[in-house]
Amino acid sequence: MMVHADVAPEARFLALKQELAMHLVAYHVRDAPVISDAQYDVLYAQLLDFEAAHPEWITPDSPSQRVGAAPLDGFAQITHRTPMLSLNNAFSVDDLSAFDRRCREGTNLAADDAALEYACEPKFDGLAVTLTYENGVLTQGATRGDGEFGEDVTANLRTIRSIPLKLMPLNVIGASLGTSSPPTLLEVRGEVLMMRRDFDRLNETQAAKGDKVFVNPRNAAAGSLRQLDSRLTAQRRLSFFCYGMGRIEWPPGIDAPLFATHAQNIDFLAQLGLPVSAERRVVQGAIGLAQFYEAIGVKRAQLPFDIDGVVYKVNSLRQQQGLGFVSRAPRFAIAHKFPAEEATTILLDITVQVGRTGAITPVARLQPVFVGGTTVSNATLHNIDELQRKQLMIGDTVIVRRAGDVIPEVVGAILEKRPADARDFVMPTHCPECHSPIFRVPEEVASRCTGGLICPAQRKQAILHFAQRRAVDIEGLGDKIVDQLVDSDLVKSLPDLYKLEFSQLASLERMAEKSATNVLDAIEASKKTTLARFLYGLGIRHVGETTAKDLARHFCTIDALMAADELALLQVNDVGPVVAESLLSFFAQSQNRDVIDALLKAGFVLSHQTLPGVSAEENATPFAGKTIVLTGTLPTLSRDQAQAMLEAVGAKVSGSVSKKTHYVLAGSDAGSKLVKAQELGITVIDEAQLLLMLQLAPQSLI
Ligand code: IVH
Repeated sequence: MMVHADVAPEARFLALKQELAMHLVAYHVRDAPVISDAQYDVLYAQLLDFEAAHPEWITPDSPSQRVGAAPLDGFAQITHRTPMLSLNNAFSVDDLSAFDRRCREGTNLAADDAALEYACEPKFDGLAVTLTYENGVLTQGATRGDGEFGEDVTANLRTIRSIPLKLMPLNVIGASLGTSSPPTLLEVRGEVLMMRRDFDRLNETQAAKGDKVFVNPRNAAAGSLRQLDSRLTAQRRLSFFCYGMGRIEWPPGIDAPLFATHAQNIDFLAQLGLPVSAERRVVQGAIGLAQFYEAIGVKRAQLPFDIDGVVYKVNSLRQQQGLGFVSRAPRFAIAHKFPAEEATTILLDITVQVGRTGAITPVARLQPVFVGGTTVSNATLHNIDELQRKQLMIGDTVIVRRAGDVIPEVVGAILEKRPADARDFVMPTHCPECHSPIFRVPEEVASRCTGGLICPAQRKQAILHFAQRRAVDIEGLGDKIVDQLVDSDLVKSLPDLYKLEFSQLASLERMAEKSATNVLDAIEASKKTTLARFLYGLGIRHVGETTAKDLARHFCTIDALMAADELALLQVNDVGPVVAESLLSFFAQSQNRDVIDALLKAGFVLSHQTLPGVSAEENATPFAGKTIVLTGTLPTLSRDQAQAMLEAVGAKVSGSVSKKTHYVLAGSDAGSKLVKAQELGITVIDEAQLLLMLQLAPQSLI
């Protein structure tokens, strides 16, 4: 709609107001804006100008009237014109068929009649509200309360951008009702919720300010809507979806449209500019219901808001009337709930777990609770910062969440239920496993046990890490066996694994002879591995699988890697100062060097040319079988390092240049050897080329 300058100012103002209202619906309700935010801002500024010049023109339906009003002393109680009922729940397919059967019986459908038609919708996990529009203008909004009496939260609801302050005019939506007058009265039923994105953002700001964080979007929505100061509500981003109609009345003398189905009702609300869910469907029979449930279950995690199930409603309004109500719930509708992803329980204690690198993780010990399909009694709390962010205290009633296959998490505490004797978690000063001091590196979130491999917990984790499939792959060496091996002192460090005897393994609890043999075979087989897997298995901080591969490709042998200084390490792809420092400090510790020595002595074969199942061609590197002479000073590698690397890939390093020399590796200040190489036409390479050629060695080998 264009606002022309030659129209009288008040008419221009009214047109502008309507245009802005339409843009708000396009943006907040239909997710399909037709103008840019900047263009909107220009129109909005014009509106504010008009209203500043003519305050008498300001009406409650103006887009400027969404900023919240002065705080109230309390919410007024209102009586719902039509009661706000609740729904019965179904939890299983059996419950579903029973619902369908009851509906069929209630509508007198015979067994061989066609399937009953249902309107299906998501069950929004928010708060039920009712909106009253009189002559198309929002005049009141209220919470459900007890279904009969609710609280007047009009000022708060007005701040929600997806709730139109004025309905779309019927002539604009093309309704052929013989009138363009809106319903004189329309009650809209729906749910206020907070999008997950807005919830995350809100909690971030709350935490940054040191304010209370909310445990889930539902609680955040409830807390935001029930603010006596609606200016606070205006700062929270709430959303709204409607799922039904209460009373609707038309001006006298109008042929009121008679919608036949619930789906038509909802379509009509959508046309009026009210937000409805895109996920609604009309289906046939119990099979259709089950399919809808399935489909939404799959989509659930991707939806931008939380739902706790789906709702089925007999679609025909006539049939709905025939079915009627039982006590406070309709017979024609049912909520099919998803298994709860959240449950409340008691945080009995917080203990700590020691990880492979000594990182101390606080773990919540919970009163066992059934959630997301399993019983949960422990949940990681990650680190002390996280614990503080969630404001948890021992003794709290907490919300535990387990969604899909995601590991269970403690979402937060219900602060209202905090007992007087709740206590804070205190990070122990000493490791519960080895009693070494625990310290927190100032710039890190984790606290660490300083016991290193003295600490049995770290040892166990280090062994499991070394044995895992992506490292040296000792099949069958799981945590139960490792616990026993470490606790009985049979294995104090990695090389001890390679000294294990059959009788020792067979004597472990629940270890059959056959399994003992299998584990021994797997330990033996693990010695033939790649340098990259071996390196990764050592569990050097910041050396994940990819870095391990890069290092192996670059240095080719463990000796060359161990001999490398910082400059040499920094030559490796993706190795920066942090990784280099970690490698240097790892190899600087004699106990780590001893472990590597002992493993090599136990028979590890890491040379990447001798991998079983790899053809000679694949094994070929540019240097295999070639004679190379080194001369001058290389920029980063020492002569020894360069020699070790070359030998590791099958080169022969010679002291003098002859016709048989394949390459001369020359650094600065190269002397007569370089001159001779040039005379003989031998390829001269520098360190950069050497490294490049080494990196070009087949990756599959390392
Ligand atoms: S229809 C006659 N449809 O669930 C009852 N309710 O347990 C009308 N809810 O308080 C409710 N999504 O707030 C209906 N698509 C949906 C819903 C829905 C969420 C809530 C509603 C109600 C509760 C009923």
